[in-house]
Amino acid sequence: MTVPVRIKIKKLLNEQAKEQHVLVKGWVRTKRGNKNVNFIALNDGSTINNIQIVADPSVISEEILKQVTTGAAISVTGKVVESAGSGQAVEVVAEQIQVLGTADPEKYPLQPKKHSMEFMREIAHLRMRSSTFGAVFRVRHALSFAVHQFFHQKGFYNLHTPIITGSDAEGAGETFHVTNFDLKDIPLTPEGEVDYKQDFFGSETNLTVSGQLEGELGAMALGEIYTFGPTFRAENSNTTRHLAEFWMIEPEMAFYELQDNIQLAEDLLKYVVKYALEHCKEDLEFLSARAADEEKNKPQNERQEMNLLERLQFVLDNNFERITYTDAIDILRNSNPNKKKKFNYIIEGWGADLQSEHERYLVEKHFKKPVVIYNYPKDIKAFYMRQNEDDKTVAAMDILFPGIGEIVGGSQREERLEKLQKRMQEMHIPEESLWWYLDTRKFGTAPHSGFGLGFERLMLFVTGMGNIRDVIPFPRTPDNAEF
Ligand code: 4AD
Ligand code: MG
Repeated sequence: MTVPVRIKIKKLLNEQAKEQHVLVKGWVRTKRGNKNVNFIALNDGSTINNIQIVADPSVISEEILKQVTTGAAISVTGKVVESAGSGQAVEVVAEQIQVLGTADPEKYPLQPKKHSMEFMREIAHLRMRSSTFGAVFRVRHALSFAVHQFFHQKGFYNLHTPIITGSDAEGAGETFHVTNFDLKDIPLTPEGEVDYKQDFFGSETNLTVSGQLEGELGAMALGEIYTFGPTFRAENSNTTRHLAEFWMIEPEMAFYELQDNIQLAEDLLKYVVKYALEHCKEDLEFLSARAADEEKNKPQNERQEMNLLERLQFVLDNNFERITYTDAIDILRNSNPNKKKKFNYIIEGWGADLQSEHERYLVEKHFKKPVVIYNYPKDIKAFYMRQNEDDKTVAAMDILFPGIGEIVGGSQREERLEKLQKRMQEMHIPEESLWWYLDTRKFGTAPHSGFGLGFERLMLFVTGMGNIRDVIPFPRTPDNAEF
């Protein structure tokens, strides 16, 4: 008998190629049975579903079956038949099993039982083999693909901005240095400062916190561009929403004003959520059930009103609420938690920076839908944002999502050279360091806008996972860069 070509489990389950001989390969999830028959649940990562392998000890030797334990990699040839059991339409009756790699049951950490998320982070090198993380990372792929498809269809160009830069676009001073100095022997200038002239790039460099500034240069040439790359921030915030290394999508558009920018962000979010609902149905159903299960452990007043699938559909069906910062402050000042001093940060008045507790109040309690806040006080925003006529606010916008808080931050950019230079002086940003950025305002400047969408924040929303460490394969957070 000739050996058939290998078929992936997703395809096999979809096609239900009954009576055919197939070759499947994968990792054993479970094995159960008795001396007459064994049932092996096999998964190859192509789908959340396992194929059931039926192994008859009179066909498959005891020596082989002994090695078929949870985590082992096996190769199976056999016949596809209608399944007698419930739970699957077809199964494979094994004619031959080859053990490709054993997994000692005494030592294999991922046993078929419920493990805590904390434990799963300790075995991040293996956790992708679980149903939950398999689903999460298939969804991650789909969302990434959908982002590229959205922009490509709109005629945007994907621009690869540098990872090593000399600038701190957000001016928050949270950069990681890049150097190849011998850290035990750093060259100093006669004045005792670090002599970056002797460093690899001949100047001080860091990992990028944002591709925006270079993205703007691209938009001033190609019209509409987007970046989708890793960004790095040495923020020492140990929260469920922050990573030190995260991926960001940053479109930048010539001739867009603030409201066009907001509309593009809303369209992008709806497009990718819809794509996931259409292409990741089984994974999202699994994740929705999982999230509903987790909700049961929360106190009644913290539980989400809708399940995951309903929340995703809700975002598609409703327009985002757009309000100014000034209106947001009025709502917050008069809110119950503010009056009763339930917020950790009480809103005293205009000018206050919004904390995530305020953002979540607006989204989850007040409007009960995604909210866009725009026209923020200039003093709490970055130097590059376009100054409004009132001299107090800038054309900034943040998009806030239920359960997440800020998912998008963006603005119309200050395209007027003098205003930009003046703002940089006020904020002590030396012009020499950004001469190339200022050049775009000297030569053919034009109104333009852009935003940044945090990819892992989007992942949190779409997968219903509770911690940002669980939606990126290998999280980087303070004190943690294993794997
Ligand atoms: O609001 P941010 O800091 O905006 C910028 O970086 C702009 N340069 C974007 C632009 O206009 N091109 O960050 C944008 C988004 C946030 O809304 C959030 O979703 C995400 O990036 N983000 C983080 N995600 C995970 N971990 C962190 N430490 C994050 N910091 C920001
Ligand atoms: Mg922001």
